[in-house]
Amino acid sequence: HYPQAVRIVEVGARDGLQNELSVTTQDKVALIHALAQAGIKNIEAGAFVSPKWVPQMADSLEVIKALKLPKDVEISALTPNLKGAELALDAGVQEFAIFTAASEAFTQKNINCTIAESIARFEPVMTLAKANDIRVRGYVSCVVGCPYQGQVEPEQVLAVCKQLLALGCYEISLGDTIGVGTPNKVRALLELLLQHIPADKLAVHFHDTYGQAIANIHTALSMGIATIDSAVAGLGGCPYAKGASGNVATEDVIYLLEGLGISTGIDLERLAEAGWTICAALNKQPVSKVSLALRSQ
Ligand code: HMG
Ligand code: MG
Repeated sequence: HYPQAVRIVEVGARDGLQNELSVTTQDKVALIHALAQAGIKNIEAGAFVSPKWVPQMADSLEVIKALKLPKDVEISALTPNLKGAELALDAGVQEFAIFTAASEAFTQKNINCTIAESIARFEPVMTLAKANDIRVRGYVSCVVGCPYQGQVEPEQVLAVCKQLLALGCYEISLGDTIGVGTPNKVRALLELLLQHIPADKLAVHFHDTYGQAIANIHTALSMGIATIDSAVAGLGGCPYAKGASGNVATEDVIYLLEGLGISTGIDLERLAEAGWTICAALNKQPVSKVSLALRSQ
Protein backbone atom coordinates (compact mmCIF):
# COMPACT_ATOMS: atom_id res chain seq x y z
CA HIS A 1 0.00 0.00 0.00
CA TYR A 2 2.97 2.34 0.23
CA PRO A 3 3.57 4.75 -2.66
CA GLN A 4 6.48 3.74 -4.92
CA ALA A 5 8.08 7.15 -4.79
CA VAL A 6 7.69 10.05 -2.40
CA ARG A 7 8.10 13.73 -3.07
CA ILE A 8 9.82 15.62 -0.25
CA VAL A 9 8.96 19.30 0.19
CA GLU A 10 11.83 20.77 2.15
CA VAL A 11 10.54 23.58 4.36
CA GLY A 12 13.56 24.15 6.62
CA ALA A 13 14.60 27.40 4.97
CA ARG A 14 11.12 28.83 5.67
CA ASP A 15 9.35 26.99 8.49
CA GLY A 16 12.68 26.29 10.18
CA LEU A 17 14.33 29.66 9.82
CA GLN A 18 11.18 31.77 10.42
CA ASN A 19 11.98 31.29 14.12
CA GLU A 20 15.64 32.19 13.94
CA LEU A 21 16.80 35.78 14.02
CA SER A 22 20.53 35.25 13.71
CA VAL A 23 20.71 33.69 10.26
CA THR A 24 22.28 35.79 7.52
CA THR A 25 20.99 36.00 3.98
CA GLN A 26 24.18 34.25 2.81
CA ASP A 27 23.59 31.37 5.25
CA LYS A 28 20.08 30.92 3.86
CA VAL A 29 21.29 30.93 0.26
CA ALA A 30 24.05 28.44 1.12
CA LEU A 31 21.54 26.18 2.87
CA ILE A 32 19.23 26.12 -0.15
CA HIS A 33 22.13 25.39 -2.50
CA ALA A 34 23.28 22.56 -0.24
CA LEU A 35 19.76 21.10 -0.12
CA ALA A 36 19.57 21.13 -3.92
CA GLN A 37 22.99 19.46 -4.13
CA ALA A 38 21.67 16.71 -1.86
CA GLY A 39 18.95 16.04 -4.44
CA ILE A 40 15.98 17.93 -3.00
CA LYS A 41 13.72 19.12 -5.81
CA ASN A 42 11.05 21.09 -3.96
CA ILE A 43 12.23 23.82 -1.64
CA GLU A 44 10.13 26.35 0.24
CA ALA A 45 12.64 29.16 0.39
CA GLY A 46 10.96 32.01 2.20
CA ALA A 47 7.81 33.89 3.11
CA PHE A 48 6.41 37.13 1.71
CA VAL A 49 4.64 38.04 4.92
CA SER A 50 4.70 41.25 6.92
CA PRO A 51 8.26 41.98 8.12
CA LYS A 52 6.67 43.46 11.24
CA TRP A 53 5.07 40.12 12.03
CA VAL A 54 7.97 37.84 11.03
CA PRO A 55 11.20 39.83 10.67
CA GLN A 56 13.13 36.57 10.19
CA MET A 57 11.69 36.27 6.66
CA ALA A 58 12.21 39.92 5.65
CA ASP A 59 15.08 39.00 3.31
CA SER A 60 13.12 36.42 1.28
CA LEU A 61 13.31 38.48 -1.91
CA GLU A 62 17.09 38.79 -1.61
CA VAL A 63 17.47 35.10 -0.76
CA ILE A 64 15.44 33.83 -3.68
CA LYS A 65 16.97 36.25 -6.18
CA ALA A 66 20.45 35.07 -5.17
CA LEU A 67 19.72 31.38 -5.87
CA LYS A 68 21.49 29.57 -8.71
CA LEU A 69 19.79 26.23 -9.02
CA PRO A 70 19.41 23.43 -11.57
CA LYS A 71 16.25 23.75 -13.70
CA ASP A 72 14.52 20.82 -12.05
CA VAL A 73 14.58 22.39 -8.58
CA GLU A 74 11.38 24.27 -7.79
CA ILE A 75 11.15 27.12 -5.33
CA SER A 76 8.04 28.11 -3.44
CA ALA A 77 7.25 30.79 -0.88
CA LEU A 78 4.42 31.72 1.44
CA THR A 79 2.07 34.32 -0.02
CA PRO A 80 -0.68 35.32 2.45
CA ASN A 81 -2.19 38.02 0.24
CA LEU A 82 -1.80 39.80 -3.11
CA LYS A 83 1.08 41.93 -1.86
CA GLY A 84 3.00 38.81 -0.88
CA ALA A 85 2.19 37.12 -4.19
CA GLU A 86 3.44 40.12 -6.17
CA LEU A 87 6.73 40.03 -4.29
CA ALA A 88 7.02 36.26 -4.80
CA LEU A 89 6.40 36.71 -8.51
CA ASP A 90 9.13 39.35 -8.66
CA ALA A 91 11.46 36.96 -6.81
CA GLY A 92 10.84 34.34 -9.51
CA VAL A 93 9.29 31.46 -7.56
CA GLN A 94 7.67 28.53 -9.38
CA GLU A 95 5.03 28.07 -6.71
CA PHE A 96 2.99 30.18 -4.30
CA ALA A 97 1.85 28.76 -0.98
CA ILE A 98 -1.30 30.21 0.54
CA PHE A 99 -2.05 29.33 4.14
CA THR A 100 -5.03 29.24 6.44
CA ALA A 101 -6.21 26.90 9.18
CA ALA A 102 -9.00 24.62 10.33
CA SER A 103 -9.17 26.70 13.51
CA GLU A 104 -10.62 30.24 13.67
CA ALA A 105 -8.56 31.14 16.73
CA PHE A 106 -5.27 30.17 15.09
CA THR A 107 -6.13 31.94 11.84
CA GLN A 108 -6.79 35.13 13.78
CA LYS A 109 -3.45 34.96 15.64
CA ASN A 110 -1.45 33.89 12.60
CA ILE A 111 -2.83 36.01 9.76
CA ASN A 112 -5.13 38.45 11.56
CA CYS A 113 -8.40 37.48 9.89
CA THR A 114 -11.14 34.86 9.85
CA ILE A 115 -10.90 31.70 7.74
CA ALA A 116 -13.52 33.13 5.35
CA GLU A 117 -11.57 36.41 5.06
CA SER A 118 -8.39 34.47 4.34
CA ILE A 119 -10.09 32.62 1.48
CA ALA A 120 -11.28 35.96 0.06
CA ARG A 121 -7.70 37.31 0.24
CA PHE A 122 -6.49 34.29 -1.70
CA GLU A 123 -8.72 34.98 -4.71
CA PRO A 124 -6.49 37.71 -6.21
CA VAL A 125 -3.45 35.55 -5.39
CA MET A 126 -4.96 32.75 -7.49
CA THR A 127 -5.71 35.15 -10.34
CA LEU A 128 -2.11 36.40 -10.36
CA ALA A 129 -0.82 32.82 -10.22
CA LYS A 130 -2.99 31.71 -13.11
CA ALA A 131 -1.95 34.63 -15.29
CA ASN A 132 1.70 33.74 -14.70
CA ASP A 133 1.53 29.94 -14.83
CA ILE A 134 2.44 29.51 -11.19
CA ARG A 135 1.23 26.56 -9.17
CA VAL A 136 -0.45 27.21 -5.87
CA ARG A 137 -0.24 24.98 -2.85
CA GLY A 138 -2.66 25.42 0.03
CA TYR A 139 -1.78 24.88 3.67
CA VAL A 140 -4.32 24.01 6.30
CA SER A 141 -2.89 24.41 9.80
CA CYS A 142 -4.11 22.84 13.03
CA VAL A 143 -5.51 19.73 11.34
CA VAL A 144 -5.60 17.73 14.55
CA GLY A 145 -5.27 20.34 17.27
CA CYS A 146 -5.03 24.07 17.87
CA PRO A 147 -2.90 25.81 20.49
CA TYR A 148 -5.81 28.17 21.25
CA GLN A 149 -8.96 26.11 20.78
CA GLY A 150 -7.81 22.53 21.45
CA GLN A 151 -9.36 19.65 19.53
CA VAL A 152 -10.08 20.16 15.82
CA GLU A 153 -12.59 17.88 14.09
CA PRO A 154 -11.82 16.20 10.74
CA GLU A 155 -15.01 17.76 9.29
CA GLN A 156 -13.60 21.25 9.89
CA VAL A 157 -10.42 20.29 8.06
CA LEU A 158 -12.38 18.84 5.15
CA ALA A 159 -14.45 22.01 4.79
CA VAL A 160 -11.32 24.19 4.50
CA CYS A 161 -9.56 21.74 2.15
CA LYS A 162 -12.57 21.84 -0.17
CA GLN A 163 -12.49 25.64 -0.27
CA LEU A 164 -8.77 25.70 -1.12
CA LEU A 165 -9.21 23.08 -3.85
CA ALA A 166 -12.16 25.02 -5.26
CA LEU A 167 -9.89 28.09 -5.47
CA GLY A 168 -7.54 26.06 -7.67
CA CYS A 169 -4.79 24.76 -5.37
CA TYR A 170 -3.10 21.72 -6.93
CA GLU A 171 -2.32 20.29 -3.51
CA ILE A 172 -3.24 20.71 0.13
CA SER A 173 -0.63 20.37 2.83
CA LEU A 174 -2.12 19.20 6.10
CA GLY A 175 -0.34 20.89 9.00
CA ASP A 176 -0.14 19.36 12.43
CA THR A 177 1.20 22.72 13.52
CA ILE A 178 1.79 21.83 17.16
CA GLY A 179 2.63 18.16 16.66
CA VAL A 180 -0.14 16.79 18.88
CA GLY A 181 -1.36 14.14 16.43
CA THR A 182 -1.03 10.40 16.99
CA PRO A 183 -1.50 7.70 14.32
CA ASN A 184 -5.13 6.97 15.19
CA LYS A 185 -6.07 10.65 14.83
CA VAL A 186 -4.16 10.96 11.57
CA ARG A 187 -5.86 7.83 10.26
CA ALA A 188 -9.32 9.12 11.18
CA LEU A 189 -8.59 12.45 9.49
CA LEU A 190 -7.24 10.87 6.30
CA GLU A 191 -10.08 8.32 6.16
CA LEU A 192 -12.52 11.20 5.91
CA LEU A 193 -10.44 13.37 3.56
CA LEU A 194 -9.71 10.50 1.16
CA GLN A 195 -13.44 9.94 0.64
CA HIS A 196 -13.53 13.39 -0.99
CA ILE A 197 -9.99 14.20 -2.15
CA PRO A 198 -7.57 12.01 -4.15
CA ALA A 199 -4.39 11.05 -2.28
CA ASP A 200 -2.20 12.76 -4.89
CA LYS A 201 -3.70 16.11 -3.92
CA LEU A 202 -2.71 15.75 -0.26
CA ALA A 203 0.57 16.30 1.55
CA VAL A 204 1.40 15.91 5.22
CA HIS A 205 3.23 18.58 7.18
CA PHE A 206 3.93 17.28 10.65
CA HIS A 207 5.74 19.02 13.46
CA ASP A 208 7.51 16.74 15.89
CA THR A 209 6.69 18.43 19.20
CA TYR A 210 5.61 15.19 20.88
CA GLY A 211 7.88 12.86 18.90
CA GLN A 212 4.98 11.41 16.90
CA ALA A 213 5.77 12.74 13.44
CA ILE A 214 7.50 9.64 12.05
CA ALA A 215 4.73 7.38 13.33
CA ASN A 216 2.15 9.73 11.82
CA ILE A 217 4.00 9.85 8.49
CA HIS A 218 4.13 6.07 8.41
CA THR A 219 0.36 6.02 8.86
CA ALA A 220 -0.11 8.55 6.04
CA LEU A 221 2.22 6.57 3.73
CA SER A 222 0.28 3.39 4.38
CA MET A 223 -2.84 5.28 3.26
CA GLY A 224 -1.24 6.33 -0.03
CA ILE A 225 -0.01 9.86 0.78
CA ALA A 226 3.11 10.48 -1.32
CA THR A 227 4.13 14.07 -0.51
CA ILE A 228 5.85 14.81 2.77
CA ASP A 229 6.94 18.18 4.13
CA SER A 230 9.99 18.15 6.36
CA ALA A 231 12.83 20.37 7.53
CA VAL A 232 16.50 19.49 7.44
CA ALA A 233 17.90 18.96 10.95
CA GLY A 234 14.34 19.26 12.31
CA LEU A 235 14.60 23.04 12.27
CA GLY A 236 11.67 25.17 13.15
CA GLY A 237 8.41 25.92 14.84
CA CYS A 238 5.74 28.53 14.34
CA PRO A 239 5.92 31.99 15.90
CA TYR A 240 2.14 31.95 16.38
CA ALA A 241 1.94 28.52 17.99
CA LYS A 242 3.59 28.69 21.39
CA GLY A 243 5.61 25.60 22.28
CA ALA A 244 5.51 24.22 18.73
CA SER A 245 8.85 22.62 17.91
CA GLY A 246 10.38 21.96 14.54
CA ASN A 247 9.09 20.03 11.59
CA VAL A 248 9.93 16.37 11.34
CA ALA A 249 13.59 16.15 10.28
CA THR A 250 14.10 15.41 6.59
CA GLU A 251 16.97 13.05 7.46
CA ASP A 252 14.63 10.95 9.63
CA VAL A 253 12.02 10.82 6.87
CA ILE A 254 14.59 9.74 4.27
CA TYR A 255 15.86 7.00 6.59
CA LEU A 256 12.30 5.76 7.09
CA LEU A 257 11.59 5.82 3.35
CA GLU A 258 14.82 4.02 2.48
CA GLY A 259 13.94 1.37 5.06
CA LEU A 260 10.55 0.92 3.42
CA GLY A 261 12.15 0.65 -0.02
CA ILE A 262 10.60 3.91 -1.25
CA SER A 263 12.75 6.00 -3.56
CA THR A 264 13.34 9.73 -3.10
CA GLY A 265 16.52 10.45 -5.06
CA ILE A 266 17.95 12.27 -2.04
CA ASP A 267 21.49 11.68 -0.77
CA LEU A 268 21.15 11.23 2.99
CA GLU A 269 24.82 11.92 3.80
CA ARG A 270 24.88 15.19 1.87
CA LEU A 271 21.56 16.20 3.34
CA ALA A 272 22.83 15.57 6.86
CA GLU A 273 25.90 17.70 6.09
CA ALA A 274 23.63 20.55 4.98
CA GLY A 275 21.88 20.23 8.32
CA TRP A 276 25.11 20.35 10.32
CA THR A 277 26.24 23.43 8.43
CA ILE A 278 23.09 25.46 9.07
CA CYS A 279 23.04 24.27 12.69
CA ALA A 280 26.62 25.49 13.13
CA ALA A 281 25.42 28.93 12.00
CA LEU A 282 22.64 28.66 14.60
CA ASN A 283 25.06 27.45 17.25
CA LYS A 284 23.13 24.26 17.90
CA GLN A 285 22.98 20.58 16.97
CA PRO A 286 20.48 19.02 14.59
CA VAL A 287 17.55 17.42 16.40
CA SER A 288 17.44 14.68 13.76
CA LYS A 289 18.25 11.38 15.44
CA VAL A 290 19.44 9.99 12.11
CA SER A 291 21.81 12.88 11.66
CA LEU A 292 23.26 12.45 15.15
CA ALA A 293 23.60 8.69 14.62
CA LEU A 294 25.44 9.17 11.31
CA ARG A 295 27.88 11.58 13.00
CA SER A 296 28.66 9.23 15.86
CA GLN A 297 29.59 6.34 13.54
P1 HMG B 1 -2.27 42.70 8.69
O1 HMG B 1 -1.53 43.59 9.64
O2 HMG B 1 -3.64 42.26 9.05
O3 HMG B 1 -2.28 43.26 7.18
O4 HMG B 1 -1.37 41.44 8.44
P2 HMG B 1 -2.62 44.60 6.51
O5 HMG B 1 -3.05 44.25 5.14
O6 HMG B 1 -3.52 45.42 7.40
O7 HMG B 1 -1.19 45.34 6.42
C1 HMG B 1 -0.50 45.86 7.53
C2 HMG B 1 0.91 46.22 7.12
O8 HMG B 1 1.62 45.05 6.66
C3 HMG B 1 0.98 47.21 5.95
O9 HMG B 1 2.18 47.97 6.13
C4 HMG B 1 1.15 46.31 4.76
O10 HMG B 1 1.77 46.95 3.68
C5 HMG B 1 2.05 45.23 5.31
P3 HMG B 1 2.18 49.43 6.78
O11 HMG B 1 1.23 50.22 5.91
O12 HMG B 1 1.68 49.25 8.19
O13 HMG B 1 3.61 49.82 6.71
N1 HMG B 1 1.87 43.96 4.59
C6 HMG B 1 2.88 43.26 4.03
N2 HMG B 1 4.20 43.49 3.95
C7 HMG B 1 4.93 42.57 3.27
N3 HMG B 1 4.43 41.45 2.73
C8 HMG B 1 3.11 41.21 2.78
C9 HMG B 1 2.28 42.14 3.44
N4 HMG B 1 0.96 42.19 3.69
C10 HMG B 1 0.72 43.30 4.37
N5 HMG B 1 2.60 40.10 2.22
C11 HMG B 1 -0.56 39.49 7.34
C12 HMG B 1 -1.77 40.34 7.64
C13 HMG B 1 -1.03 38.15 6.77
C14 HMG B 1 0.33 40.19 6.35
C15 HMG B 1 0.20 39.27 8.67
O14 HMG B 1 -0.70 38.78 9.62
C16 HMG B 1 1.38 38.38 8.57
O15 HMG B 1 2.33 38.66 7.88
N6 HMG B 1 1.38 37.27 9.35
C17 HMG B 1 2.51 36.38 9.43
C18 HMG B 1 2.05 34.99 9.26
C19 HMG B 1 3.22 34.03 9.25
O16 HMG B 1 4.18 34.20 8.53
N7 HMG B 1 3.09 32.95 10.08
C20 HMG B 1 4.03 31.90 10.08
C21 HMG B 1 3.89 31.05 8.85
S1 HMG B 1 2.45 29.96 8.91
C22 HMG B 1 3.05 28.50 9.57
O17 HMG B 1 4.15 28.48 10.05
C23 HMG B 1 2.20 27.25 9.48
C24 HMG B 1 2.64 26.31 8.35
O18 HMG B 1 4.01 25.94 8.52
C25 HMG B 1 1.78 25.05 8.34
C26 HMG B 1 1.67 24.37 9.72
O19 HMG B 1 2.71 24.06 10.32
O20 HMG B 1 0.53 24.18 10.13
C27 HMG B 1 2.50 26.97 6.97
MG1 MG C 1 4.72 24.38 9.80
